[in-house]
Amino acid sequence: MSYNVAVVGATGNVGREMLSILSERLFPTKEVHALASRRSNGVEVSFGDATLKCKDLATFDFSKVDFCLMSAGGSVSKEWSPKIAGKGCVVIDNSSAWRYDQDVPLIVPEVNADAVAGYAKKNIIANPNCSTMQLVVALKPLHDRATIKRVVVATYQSVSGAGKDAMDELDRQTKAIYSLQDIETKKFPKRIAFNLIPQIDVFMEDGYTREEWKMVAETKKILDPKIRLVATCVRVPVFIGHSEAVNIEFENPITADEARDILRSAPGCIVIDAHEPGGYVTPYESVGEDATYISRIREDATVENGLAMWVVSDNLRKGAALNAIQIAECLIARKLITAKRKAA
Ligand SMILES: NC(=O)c1ccc[n+]([C@@H]2O[C@H](COP(=O)([O-])OP(=O)(O)OC[C@H]3O[C@@H](n4cnc5c(N)ncnc54)[C@H](OP(=O)(O)O)[C@@H]3O)[C@@H](O)[C@H]2O)c1
Repeated sequence: MSYNVAVVGATGNVGREMLSILSERLFPTKEVHALASRRSNGVEVSFGDATLKCKDLATFDFSKVDFCLMSAGGSVSKEWSPKIAGKGCVVIDNSSAWRYDQDVPLIVPEVNADAVAGYAKKNIIANPNCSTMQLVVALKPLHDRATIKRVVVATYQSVSGAGKDAMDELDRQTKAIYSLQDIETKKFPKRIAFNLIPQIDVFMEDGYTREEWKMVAETKKILDPKIRLVATCVRVPVFIGHSEAVNIEFENPITADEARDILRSAPGCIVIDAHEPGGYVTPYESVGEDATYISRIREDATVENGLAMWVVSDNLRKGAALNAIQIAECLIARKLITAKRKAA
């Protein structure tokens, strides 16, 4: 059985990674379509050894497509996902447009794969935010063992999480600093080169940013509505790879050694935790990898049943493209979708 797949946003950071992962994982494709805006009509993108020419989303016929991997931002998704889903094509969306809709499952296959069955209500499945994704992969096995009450997380998020223009801005600013040129700030509210910005997405009324709110709402929807979470989300001058310093308070006792053992055998997790210089994972080392890496696991004696840890993952892979493809694989494995159409 093979499937017709469309990647919307194929010229973007996440879309390009989707095409590469579809090819790497030998996803059973019959035809793959690369779609973007009209601006990119005819632009070539790689799919394994092949080259695809981008087509315009606005004029593409989805009636023969089985999966649409959507990665073109919230407003494009709001407009197009229902139209595409209405053609009988399952949309797996990367933006925040559908994540909080009760009729749209928000899925991380290692955590809540069973919820995927609810996709048929709208034919849309949402992919969580990149910072939530790696967090819940690491929290789930610990929650199963000792029941999480509260999480305090500080993120260190790479610029690729804000799209290809954001990567260009870090690159340009860094070069400008070395060549004593003026620094131009467009994508971020302040200079990002050799700096940190404690704001991701817009401010909300309570003083938190929307990125911080997303981590709360999404962790509750995916893992457990009873978990209390507070986040501080920070943009850092790293190109790819998000990191998180996480403090967890549990209902029941759990030692650092127990947590290490549990996470070692947990799906999607790799523990690298040697108590010596370099015995941990940094974002640079996570690039191009599928795993969520957990390091620096310690008991937190300032609370009852507390642990502290460091969690790192490639935000373009597990944080976005890989998870979307794992969702599609999950639908196929559970026989929730059949390839019902001939190639376009
Ligand atoms: N980067 C991450 O870590 C990450 C993680 C999770 C979720 N996401 C989400 O994934 C989405 C894409 O992120 P990204 O980082 O790949 O962004 P990006 O690098 O800026 O790419 C955006 C893509 O969307 C396309 N696009 C924009 N307007 C369009 C339109 N009107 N019609 C069709 N295509 C259009 C662009 O095509 P053109 O080249 O033709 O403009 C481009 O292919 C966003 O919703 C983002 O929030 C990103």
